[in-house]
Amino acid sequence: MSRTPVVVLISGTGSNLAALLASARDPQCPYAVVAVIADREASGLEHARAAQIPTEVVRLRDHADREAWDRALAAAVTRHRPELVVLAGFMKLVGPPLLSAFGGRIINTHPALLPAFPGAHGVRDALAHGVKVTGASVIEVDPGVDTGRILAQVAVDVLEGDTEQTLHERIKAAEQPLLVEVVRRLTSPRPVGPQAAGSR
Ligand code: GAR
Repeated sequence: MSRTPVVVLISGTGSNLAALLASARDPQCPYAVVAVIADREASGLEHARAAQIPTEVVRLRDHADREAWDRALAAAVTRHRPELVVLAGFMKLVGPPLLSAFGGRIINTHPALLPAFPGAHGVRDALAHGVKVTGASVIEVDPGVDTGRILAQVAVDVLEGDTEQTLHERIKAAEQPLLVEVVRRLTSPRPVGPQAAGSR
């Protein structure tokens, strides 16, 4: 079976990446992670190195300006010819070069129930607002900040005494299987022929 190539972008500890890699060890998994790219020396890159998957760091500070970094990031991703690009804790907005190369084929996971609490501090903002239920969302990436089409969501209760850290850990535990499920769905071959017509 040929697997759908996926590139994962990270900035942090990479627990979502680790879940994607664990699922890819299943011989029936429809995708393969072909590269992991970070915008910094993220500790999560270790998960990719341990799995002998190519890694690359494309740092903003190594480029003349944001536009040059955007172009370098798009070039790095394109070199691996992915069919799907997954932002798994990638803490920068992606610019026009990546969006025009992979429009509609970039997804992001976010630790809140969008459209509530977009941006870099989804967990902190939800806690500060006093919500009783928050969660995680997997969305299509568009030019806005967490404004793309919602593909899947999972709810997580906020508990008495939760800190940003305890709540984020519980969100991540729910977020990881959600992201894996969406990536598997998007990379599964679509049925063709009479069976497909019959199942419409
Ligand atoms: C995840 O919870 C992800 O939703 C969040 O960063 C965490 C990364 O964790 N992303 C954002 O906040 C994007 N706005 P990980 O590095 O352990 O996968």
